[in-house]
This record gives sequence, C-alpha cells and structure tokens, in this order.
Amino acid sequence: MIENRKEEHINIAKSKDVSPDHNFWDDIKFVHQAVPEIDFDSINTGSDLLGKKTDFPFLISSMTGGTERARNINRNLSRAAEQFGLGMGVGSMRAAVEKKDLAGTFSVVNDFKPRFKLANIGAPQLIKQGKNSFDNSMIDYAFDLIDADFLVVHFNFLQEMVQPEGDHNSRGIMKRLTEIAASFPLIVKETGNGFSREAALLLRDAGVRAIDVGGLGGTSFAAIEYYRAEKAGDREKMDSGRTFWDWGIPSPASISYCQVGLPVIGSGGLRTGLDLARALSMGAAMGGFARTLLAGADGNYGDLERELKQIIRDLKIAMFLTSSSDVKKLASARKVIMEPLRSWLAIYGE
Ligand SMILES: Cc1cc2nc3c(=O)[nH]c(=O)nc-3n(C[C@H](O)[C@H](O)[C@H](O)COP(=O)(O)O)c2cc1C
Repeated sequence: MIENRKEEHINIAKSKDVSPDHNFWDDIKFVHQAVPEIDFDSINTGSDLLGKKTDFPFLISSMTGGTERARNINRNLSRAAEQFGLGMGVGSMRAAVEKKDLAGTFSVVNDFKPRFKLANIGAPQLIKQGKNSFDNSMIDYAFDLIDADFLVVHFNFLQEMVQPEGDHNSRGIMKRLTEIAASFPLIVKETGNGFSREAALLLRDAGVRAIDVGGLGGTSFAAIEYYRAEKAGDREKMDSGRTFWDWGIPSPASISYCQVGLPVIGSGGLRTGLDLARALSMGAAMGGFARTLLAGADGNYGDLERELKQIIRDLKIAMFLTSSSDVKKLASARKVIMEPLRSWLAIYGE
C-alpha cells in the first residue's frame, strides 16, 4: 500500500500540474543595482544550518524511499549533495520502520557524503491513530539507519484529510513533540501549506531547533491526492482535493511569520536560483528544493547536475545584481513586495 502510494506521488508530481494557481515568489521584485561594487567570481555562497556548513544556501528537501525507484532517486540526490556540498533529506521513513527489507532504499544515501542528512517521519505517526504510534526506539532506528544529523518531523494534516487512507488525529501532538525534542535534534517541516506565527511559537517552545516552512506555492498535496482519488474513482476525496488545492500560507509569508529566533528553511515552490534569493531576502537561513529536482533525480544524473548548476548560477546572478557579496547580505537587498503577498505580510504588523 505504502509502496503504491509513493510510486503514485512520484508519477503525479512529475506528470501533472500540482501547483497552486498563484506563485507568490513572483510577488517579490528586487530593485536592480546597476553599479554593484563586487566581483561575480568571488561571491560567497557558503551557508550553514545549525553549525553544519554547506557550499550553497539550500538543501534537497525530503522526498522519497521505500521502492526500488526511490532507491535510485535517493542515490542520485545524495551523490549530488556530496558533489555540490549540500545537505539532504530522505522521504518519510515509515516504510523502513514497518518493513525492514525496505531499509536499503533509504540507507543508500550513506554511499555518499552529504554535508548533513535529515531523517524523516510524519507527525501523524507520533500519536495513536487507532493503532500503535512510533515509540523512541522506532525513531532511533530511522535516525541511525541513515546516520542522520537531524530528525525532521513533517506536518501534513491537509494531505491526511484529503487522502483516502489518511490519519485523523492530532490531539497530544505538542506533548509528544516536546518529548522527542529532548532526545533528538529536531527540525519541523510542513509539506506545502506553511506555518503561522502561532504554530512557530508553539514549535519553538517545544524545543524545535529549526523550522522548514514548506509553504504554499509549489507541490500541493491536495492536488496530488485529487489525482489519486480520480484514479481510484473516489468522488468525495476528489472534491476535497479540488476545494483545498490552494489552501495554505504562501511560502514567503510563512518565512516572515516563522521569525521567532530559530533558523528558518524557506521551501515550497522554489523553481530557480532567483526564487532562492527571494527566500533568503525574506529571512530564510537556507532554501529547500523538492519537485524541481525530481525529474533529474528520477532520470539521468547529468540532468540533475545541470539543474543544480543552473540554480547556483541564477542565485549568483541575483546576488550580483542586488550587490550582495554574501548570502546574509541578501536579507537587506532592496525589494518591492506586490499583492497578494503584501497583504499576507501585513497581518502580524510586519
Ligand atoms: C514526490 C514527493 C514526495 C514527497 N514526500 C515527502 C515526504 O515523504 N516527507 C516530507 O517531509 N515531505 C515530502 N514531500 C514534500 C517536500 O519535501 C516539500 O516540502 C514540498 O514538496 C514543497 O516543496 P516543492 O514545492 O519544492 O516541491 C514530498 C514532495 C514530493 C514532490
């Protein structure tokens, strides 16, 4: 069941339009600096996340595992993470915890040396859903399997609501998250709907070390589940998928909401190095790319390599033309924020 679902997610994400109607990154326009007093070739793109140094200010977001195809994707992604000096995540490790013979489709990332590795489990697995929840020994197993540096817990409750086999319970989640934060270096991420300021404050108080916003603007799991429900002939879930297709907090707004004293990873809908520069300008310590890298990772390594080189080149062009000699300077690059993002940014008095 899990294997089929993972396979379907990859097929749908690659072949269908699964993005919301509006891309909020395009609402950010940098003011062009025609007289940059810097050398393009000595722009410093180095970054770090919680002390782990990377050559570029982005990571490869959690995507997959659990199938032979996923093994190949994870191999390509970890090879690229080593080559480019990046950190990377694997997809939800529930499959490996429940079926040990699938472990190798995740641990293949140990064949290479990403700058850091993110283990991944879902928030719904942390609490009882009518069956058993994950205890600490199961989380230990997932963490050690890929020799992880951080544990990522993903929040995907919209997806759970609209998928035919979704988990429905979130009661007690903060208590359990607080326990886990005491035992693991914990990063929390959304999967396409973003975190509010209220959520960010709760997460900070629970002991979370960083927040990956995973906001609205890129892969919409309501859209992915719409297509799965269509294939299964489930009208009810199709309707919910369509209704909630555009639900969530735009990624750039969520980066702003999540400025609560923790490093923020800006992800959800990043397509280019220019989008990455926009995320950094909103206060993200790093960006995160998922779907943009999927086609290359699922095919020819050369395509993935080309995609990453293009992201890096466009990031550096944006840095040059905003007169930003290092990544931190992007936070003070002059920019104009257009509607509708502008209204989203006004709600907490930003
Ligand atoms: C095929 C696919 C599978 C994914 N699986 C996971 C997952 O298992 N765990 C997770 O935390 N996020 C998962 N995500 C979400 C991404 O990490 C990311 O948060 C989201 O896709 C938004 O980024 P994007 O717009 O760059 O794709 C998945 C995304 C895609 C496209």
